Amino acid sequence: MTDSQVIVEQILKSFDLKDFNSLAIPAKAEFFCSIDSVSQLQQALVYAKQQNLKITPISGGSNLVLAADVSGLVLHINLKGVSASTVEDNTVDISVAAGENWHDFVTLCLNNGWHGLENLALIPGNMGAAPIQNIGAYGVELSHFLQSVDVVNVETGQPEVLTGEDCDFGYRTSVFKQSALDKYVITGVNLRLSTQPVAHVNYPALAELIEGHKPTPKIIFDSVCQIRRSKLPDPKEIPNVGSFFKNPIVSKQQADQLIRTYPEIPTFSVEGGLTKLAAAWLIERCGFKGKRQGKVGVHHKQALVLVNFEGNGEDVLLLAEKIKTQVAEKFAVVLEVEPRIYGHTQ
Ligand code: EPU
Repeated sequence: MTDSQVIVEQILKSFDLKDFNSLAIPAKAEFFCSIDSVSQLQQALVYAKQQNLKITPISGGSNLVLAADVSGLVLHINLKGVSASTVEDNTVDISVAAGENWHDFVTLCLNNGWHGLENLALIPGNMGAAPIQNIGAYGVELSHFLQSVDVVNVETGQPEVLTGEDCDFGYRTSVFKQSALDKYVITGVNLRLSTQPVAHVNYPALAELIEGHKPTPKIIFDSVCQIRRSKLPDPKEIPNVGSFFKNPIVSKQQADQLIRTYPEIPTFSVEGGLTKLAAAWLIERCGFKGKRQGKVGVHHKQALVLVNFEGNGEDVLLLAEKIKTQVAEKFAVVLEVEPRIYGHTQ
């Protein structure tokens, strides 16, 4: 039997994706296949091309909104494996397959004395999605540690390696969301971590909690977990995709104008003389925090998190649109949705 026949036999039809997206939206994949190896991925790409099927790679499903059923072939990237090698004193290079769970990996690093990722504990999702949105939290982002990303080119089916520079990382963005959108399937991520403790504890909520303690890796890891658990809902209990919008970045002039009207507005200076605003604050000030709209709502402890109580993608997007409209009307600030939306244009 050829590989491509093996793939055909593994493809499921009209497959419910509810358990494969952290918003628990009950949308269906026209075709679905679990991918456990790079060669299987290559075969699936050949098959999709032959059958003229659009492919949609998903992994942990924690940063996507299924607006409708997904046509074509959904590939569940389930590649596993972690390998580490010490290249120089004080650093360790680690290759992680795309289907490894992010938080389990951060925990493994802590237990092995590989440091730097403690601030990124408890972020939902798998490794393969992490570079796409350059995951970040509590003053640290993935791009600080990323050496390269292993991909398979969707068009050619060939493996390629993108350097950190190729990835063109920014705040919650990368080449995978911009010029290389849909061009590659990420199969692995290569990171360089430190074998010496690293402490980034300037983020106010973290600094406050750690005050008076030595900021050891374990204390940082535990404190980040504690902060996240205190305000971010566990997607397994209350379906969500974390922050639904990016924190908007505006000109200093616009920020100054907002400060004159709302002296208490939180603002953060960022590169290029620009100012980052807290989307959660803008949304809360529009009265959405803890509010429910039918089968969806805004989390009562973090206004940037939309939660799903058995609604569908359309319900979530209608609420998001309402929030965007009211924030634009009140503050003249445009909010940008952070997760990727699938299904509505397919
Ligand atoms: N705030 C409110 N109302 C709220 C929540 C927060 O007014 O309901 C205000 C706070 O007072 C604070 C500011 O908003 O001044 C920032 O709040 P917080 O520290 O909770 O962080 P955030 O900006 O809302 C971002 C990330 C999170 C990340 C935290 C910590 C984005 C889009 N979100 O949230 O990432 O965990 O900082 O670094 O950048 C995610 O991307 O899914 C995510 C959870």
